Amino acid sequence: MKPKILVTSAAGKTGMATALQLLKKDFPVRALVHRKDARSQFLHKAGAEIVIGEMHDIDSLREAFKGCQRAYWCTPVESHPLHKMSLFAIAAAEAKVEHIVHLSQWLSSSSHPSLATREMWMMDHILDWIPGATMTINNTGWFADNYALVMLPMAQLGMMPMPLGEGRNAPPSNDDIAAVNVGALINPEDHAGRTYRPTGPELLTPQEIADAFGRALGRTVRYDNASMKMFLKALAAQKRPEFAQSQLAHYVVDYQQDAFALGAPTDAVEKVGGRRPQTMDEIARHYAQTDPDARQTVINKVRAFSFLVKIMTATPLDREKFESSREFPSSRTPEYAVSDDAWLAAHPDNSQLRSASITTINAAE
Ligand SMILES: NC(=O)c1ccc[n+]([C@@H]2O[C@H](COP(=O)([O-])OP(=O)(O)OC[C@H]3O[C@@H](n4cnc5c(N)ncnc54)[C@H](OP(=O)(O)O)[C@@H]3O)[C@@H](O)[C@H]2O)c1
Repeated sequence: MKPKILVTSAAGKTGMATALQLLKKDFPVRALVHRKDARSQFLHKAGAEIVIGEMHDIDSLREAFKGCQRAYWCTPVESHPLHKMSLFAIAAAEAKVEHIVHLSQWLSSSSHPSLATREMWMMDHILDWIPGATMTINNTGWFADNYALVMLPMAQLGMMPMPLGEGRNAPPSNDDIAAVNVGALINPEDHAGRTYRPTGPELLTPQEIADAFGRALGRTVRYDNASMKMFLKALAAQKRPEFAQSQLAHYVVDYQQDAFALGAPTDAVEKVGGRRPQTMDEIARHYAQTDPDARQTVINKVRAFSFLVKIMTATPLDREKFESSREFPSSRTPEYAVSDDAWLAAHPDNSQLRSASITTINAAE
């Protein structure tokens, strides 16, 4: 009998891919989803047992864990991440699980300016305390999926507006991040106590990433180094939860400072996931073929222009006001990754950091 594996955030990007890959390998999967919809029905049809539940509710987590021996923990980017993880850990301990894979962050640190990242660092430690359970950490960096957030302007207007400076990344696909999760979930004896960072095969500049989308879309796509203010306006226009808006704005500063270039690319996808990592061209082709925003239609063109107008007229989140109104705990010495000696010491290969990029950029600009 193969062990049953609980996948949290199963309707999300890495959860869905993890659940489907496990099912393909004939592992029984329990999928915790937030709601019944096309995604949960798809998972059900693929063979997963579905639990519709709420991560803020211990009974949902207890039900999800029933009969499971292993679990994938993926924290939604929303308020109260530690609250959700604590209930997950309590239910995991009660269910006597043997192994957990935790989706952390490459930036995870105790002094990062992002509260979500500091709490991720706490999770890296706390999840390791579950009695009788071992853990593998997947500390992936900036997902390739993030670039597809601007598919509409890329496909319709030929521009990739993102505030990435000239930072570089070796972007991992959702499937490759999931392959590392799956490798560790099905062979815990080989991966317990280890941390892996899946990446794509190549370190790329923002324009090189825009070029990959251009090739996939059959048009020129120009990278437009957007300002932080425009980025915040775009997040507000997309009606992203304010918690996510306030945190995402931090990560682009790390991107600009080249934190995602450090030590990339890695061989984690091949070594742990047992597959060749997807190239940016392959990933871009996938989105160009499946994302409705990529279709060349008059309606999409009108939508792209009207979204630009919406961005111009949106009010950017006042992050300081938001964070103080929510009484966010603050770090005494907040430091972005590449300015943080402790983070650099824990991420040894800093030979690829370009010295020009180690500058302090004011996240509020
Ligand atoms: N994006 C990046 O570049 C990046 C890089 C490094 C690490 N990460 C980490 O990746 C994680 C996110 O992974 P992902 O992108 O795979 O997730 P995701 O696509 O955002 O999925 C999160 C899922 O959780 C569900 N959910 C939200 N609140 C819930 C609740 N209270 N109870 C039950 N379910 C709930 C959502 O359901 P609905 O969709 O139905 O609302 C959604 O399906 C974060 O922890 C982030 O820090 C991301």
